[in-house]
Amino acid sequence: MDTLAEPILERDKERGRRRSLALRQGRVTQSQPKIGQPNIDNDGEARLSAVCGVAPPRRSAEDYAFVVAPCIRPKFGLPMRPLFVDDSAMIIAIDGPAGAGKSTIAKLIALKLGFLYIDTGAMYRALTLKIINQHIDSNNVPAIITTARATTLDLVNNPDGSLQVFLDGRDVSAQIRGPKVTRFVSDIAKIPEVREIMVTLQRSLGKRGNSVLEGRDIGSVVFPDAQKKFYLDAEFSQRTQRRWEELELSGQSVSLDDVAVDLRNRDTIDSTRKVAPLKKTDDAIIIDTTAMTIDEVVNAVLSHIPPSY
Ligand code: CDP
Repeated sequence: MDTLAEPILERDKERGRRRSLALRQGRVTQSQPKIGQPNIDNDGEARLSAVCGVAPPRRSAEDYAFVVAPCIRPKFGLPMRPLFVDDSAMIIAIDGPAGAGKSTIAKLIALKLGFLYIDTGAMYRALTLKIINQHIDSNNVPAIITTARATTLDLVNNPDGSLQVFLDGRDVSAQIRGPKVTRFVSDIAKIPEVREIMVTLQRSLGKRGNSVLEGRDIGSVVFPDAQKKFYLDAEFSQRTQRRWEELELSGQSVSLDDVAVDLRNRDTIDSTRKVAPLKKTDDAIIIDTTAMTIDEVVNAVLSHIPPSY
């Protein structure tokens, strides 16, 4: 398979280069593979499915008027290949602990810039949901790895900025935010093999076009060369309050104390694990969002993005 795969990769790269050039020169205003069109590999396996959603028009529509959103359909553990590789794609990495505002801000930034929005936490959450549904013990690492390799994930960016998460073809966008998933996700995410699978996938997604990725290790591991890195943080009490309000709004009734225990627990696991712990990289722009409104944080992030985007 390797010898056959190579020319396709080269061809995809060349196509990406030509597309970037055409977009820069304004010769192309729109590029959209057919909805649901599979990317069939030489051995006949669909590695990544094509576009399912469309991102909104960009702020400056002159040179790059249209960005397609990702619908990813990877088979974990198998080699994955983006539909095309855009070598000039810009990556904005947003890392930080829970409740610092990453998801809200990343989503709005992606919407404003017309970038793809990739919520890497949602990917770990979806896998965790499957582990729970299959009654696999969170200490049973071999079974978790086997399950990860046999899992299909789809992320769909909708035009209104919302994100849908599909696990083995089923929409699990709401279930992955449930308390059980939240309780176990950091235990699953600390398994090195699971991270390896996710990071490979996240990298191939980021190379499909300008993207905002949010998580814990984006600037440090997934895209250490990201053009812009942000680390969002906030005081613990503020993070707790925000997460509690979010859960209340979504109809989950939990006590502030329970939220605090969960955040403390995940902060500890996420920042002390051996592989890819949560940390600030030296080149990250740190934003303390404790006393800031959403608009203020969005503007602070955008002030670091070149106006050409
Ligand atoms: O939204 P919240 O901040 O609660 O968390 P999330 O972004 O949904 O991520 C859930 C969990 O996935 C985190 O607590 C981490 O354990 C893990 N995660 C990770 O390890 N690496 C990432 N890049 C993203 C999430």
